[in-house]
Amino acid sequence: MASTGVMLVLTAALAVLVVADPEPVQDFCVAVHPAGDAAAYPGFPCKPASAVVSDDFFFAGLAVAGDTSNRFGFNVTQGNVEAFPGVNTLGLSINRGDFAPGGVNPPHSHPRATELVHVIAGRVLVGFVSTAGRLYSKVLREGESFVFPRGMIHFQYNVGEASAARVITVFNSQLPGVVGAGPALFGADPEIPDVVLAKSFQVDAKIIKLLKSMFKN
Ligand code: GLV
Ligand code: MN
Repeated sequence: MASTGVMLVLTAALAVLVVADPEPVQDFCVAVHPAGDAAAYPGFPCKPASAVVSDDFFFAGLAVAGDTSNRFGFNVTQGNVEAFPGVNTLGLSINRGDFAPGGVNPPHSHPRATELVHVIAGRVLVGFVSTAGRLYSKVLREGESFVFPRGMIHFQYNVGEASAARVITVFNSQLPGVVGAGPALFGADPEIPDVVLAKSFQVDAKIIKLLKSMFKN
């Protein structure tokens, strides 16, 4: 009997560990963003239910194309809880990615969410690297989807030579978080010491300085 109880507790604990965001405990909790406040666990405070209106569940932010005139030829428009308060406590969010021809969404990971990418227009090479160091990759066409498991480094690259591409990405977290591989290693503030990076990548410190110059804010 005691061991059944222990098993139940362990199973419940495991269930909590594998869910990206906590389960909702009410119909909805439209976020109130206190000025200058960061996300509070397990979400943002709720707007009073009597003040909630249909527009709280509406988001038009992804209807507009992002500006891709930058060095990556890429723009992400985020529909996480910070932009779309209606998703607070619902455990999901949505982004739009716009790519110029040859544009890239550089390698990054989301510590709190699995991501599903769906191509709306164009041809996009996508991929992620597993903890075993294996690359899983595919060229997606319009209407096709791919999934990046939570925490895995992934990228997207527009292989259309002359055409723009567009994707929608969905996440099983209201606030997936983003860790960019380049910015985290070479653009951290304060900096990771050159000697650490030079030794880690087995290159001269000059190369590290060059990479850091690319990621200075
Ligand atoms: C794409 O990878 C995204 O994070 O929106
Ligand atoms: Mn991503």
